[in-house]
Amino acid sequence: MTIPFADRLQSVETSAIRELFKLLGKPGIISFAGGFPDSAMFDVEGIRLASEAALREQPGAALQYGATEGHTPLREALAGLMATKGVKDLRAEDLIVTTGSQQALDLLGKTLMQAGDTVLVESPTFLATIQCFRLYGPTVKGVPVDAHGVDVQALEAAIVAHRPKAIYLIPTFGNPSGAMMSLARRRRVLELAVAHQVMVIEDDPYGDLYFGEAPPPSLLALSEQVPGSRDWLVHCGSLSKVLSPGLRIGWMIAPPELLAKATMCKQFSDAHTSTFSQVTATHYLHSGRMAPTLDKVRQVYAQRATALCQGLNQHLGEAIRFDAPQGGMFVWAKLTGAQGAPRSGAVFAKQAIAHQVAFVPGAPFFADHPDEASLRLSFATANEALIAQGCERLGQALRAG
Ligand SMILES: Cc1ncc(COP(=O)(O)O)c(C=O)c1O
Repeated sequence: MTIPFADRLQSVETSAIRELFKLLGKPGIISFAGGFPDSAMFDVEGIRLASEAALREQPGAALQYGATEGHTPLREALAGLMATKGVKDLRAEDLIVTTGSQQALDLLGKTLMQAGDTVLVESPTFLATIQCFRLYGPTVKGVPVDAHGVDVQALEAAIVAHRPKAIYLIPTFGNPSGAMMSLARRRRVLELAVAHQVMVIEDDPYGDLYFGEAPPPSLLALSEQVPGSRDWLVHCGSLSKVLSPGLRIGWMIAPPELLAKATMCKQFSDAHTSTFSQVTATHYLHSGRMAPTLDKVRQVYAQRATALCQGLNQHLGEAIRFDAPQGGMFVWAKLTGAQGAPRSGAVFAKQAIAHQVAFVPGAPFFADHPDEASLRLSFATANEALIAQGCERLGQALRAG
């Protein structure tokens, strides 16, 4: 039997990373491969109290159908959360609640993108975004990134060359790049959006996970300093990396016409985000537990990032190059081929699995022109002792060839 799938599926392959994850269930593997937060960081007690309050105080709202735009008290709480991050004038009606920020990305694909369009993304970028956008038909093109974010000169050249429908950026602790865009580049991106009248999509699930000093303001917070830029800006937020991905609470802030079309599409997609999750999240945000939870997550991830960087330097030495991340969950590295070591992330990933340690090769994170020597290592889920052991195994895998 042949199922008559839609043509649009031909542009999307099953991710190489998903295939790799099948191997990770094997006992004894130390994994730097996942993109998950550590479940041991979840504030289970706080979420239990919030969900009990949801059922006790608003059983109707928590268990009934709800508005597609989201539960009003949650929209208000999220506007309040954004105000603490320098977005001062936001009202509840300026955002919609989405089922994870992943749904916001899908709604943007649905509302903005079609065959014949070009969308610019960072090289590398979040794989699920590349795949999700491609489903809607645009050509997705990469623009280079370094430790300070997207190369704004290359971005301008690509805007002029391709007249893109949208530019998708993860300015703060990108997945997988770990990069943090400088303030000057953020300003320039906003100026380019206004000058070339192109939508910029800011995806910001990791911005709160900084280890030392807070990062520069988000593009959204900065937009008040660049006249006209707010009209060209979409901001996607998420509670997944700071509280729990299982709650599936994300949000999207966008100009009113775009928000209205996205809401219409969301209606056909899931009618609304789980009301139980939304009411629970509202109670949680009002509980005062978010700040201490975040402090703990930042501290633990910072220690693990240090452990991973030290371990890689100690056991892989000249064979690998990377910039130590200042936040987020990832180290983005390149194999140098020094000392006869492999130059391919995919080849080294296979050797590593044979030595009971996993990471993901970097090539799938490129929309075009993949860098085969790149790899992504997450420090979020393994503790420091396991990270040290994992790096030792990577060294053994390297030497064994
Ligand atoms: C850059 C980026 N955007 C969006 C998401 C989706 O997160 P969620 O749908 O859980 O909010 C992720 C998850 O890994 C991500 O890394």
